[in-house]
Amino acid sequence: MNNAMKLCVSLDLPTAKENLELVQAIKDYDVWLKVGFRSYIRDGKKFLEDIKAINPNFKIFLDLKLYDIPNTMADAAEEIAKFGIVDMFNVHASAGVKAMSTVMNRIKDIPNKPLVLAVTALTSFDNDSFKAIYNEDISSKATQFAKDTHNSGIDGVVCSAFESLDIKNNTSDEFITLCPGIRPFGEDAGDQQRVADIPFAKENKVDFIVVGRPIYKASNPSEVVEKILSNI
Ligand code: C5P
Repeated sequence: MNNAMKLCVSLDLPTAKENLELVQAIKDYDVWLKVGFRSYIRDGKKFLEDIKAINPNFKIFLDLKLYDIPNTMADAAEEIAKFGIVDMFNVHASAGVKAMSTVMNRIKDIPNKPLVLAVTALTSFDNDSFKAIYNEDISSKATQFAKDTHNSGIDGVVCSAFESLDIKNNTSDEFITLCPGIRPFGEDAGDQQRVADIPFAKENKVDFIVVGRPIYKASNPSEVVEKILSNI
């Protein structure tokens, strides 16, 4: 990927109405929109269609982090790809190489197939809680997950901006990195442990920055989006 870093706005507000008001407010900008569990479970495919109805040029990242046996993951991936309106979705790398390659193989011939990312290590883990499950240190295992992901034909990973460059060095420059935990102008970190700003993300070759609260909690979200885009 690379070249111009892209902005992905998290639609994390509590209701569809509030999320769609935010989408409406930023409808003239070239951004991606991230739809997660809460919105998708409650509002379903209709919500994705409502976004596209506001501006068909919006790109949608469906953040459902699929994790199951290979065939079940591929079934879900196929259904997402067949929607024809999802531009990117994700799976868990810890589902394994077989599951990830089964997913990629299943969707390969679907027209306009979405990009697929994999989550390496959830950012909510500290080293001890990660080790209790995977019996390995988080940093070495995350790099291994990234390599497995790349070898499975997946397009990129969800990772922290602090890992982006190392992951690219261990895979390829084209391998996409999408990074949450971005505080563009020194905003409150909230529950994010390690936050990065735009220059740091650029230096570390991040392809997508994900920004939620600094945009939707602002009194004028479109002004913040505009400022982020001009800084990119
Ligand atoms: O509000 P904030 O900018 O912190 O939002 C970041 C978004 O990225 C949220 O939707 C959060 O769930 C998501 N995310 C994250 N860390 C990950 C994966 C996703 O913060 N590892």
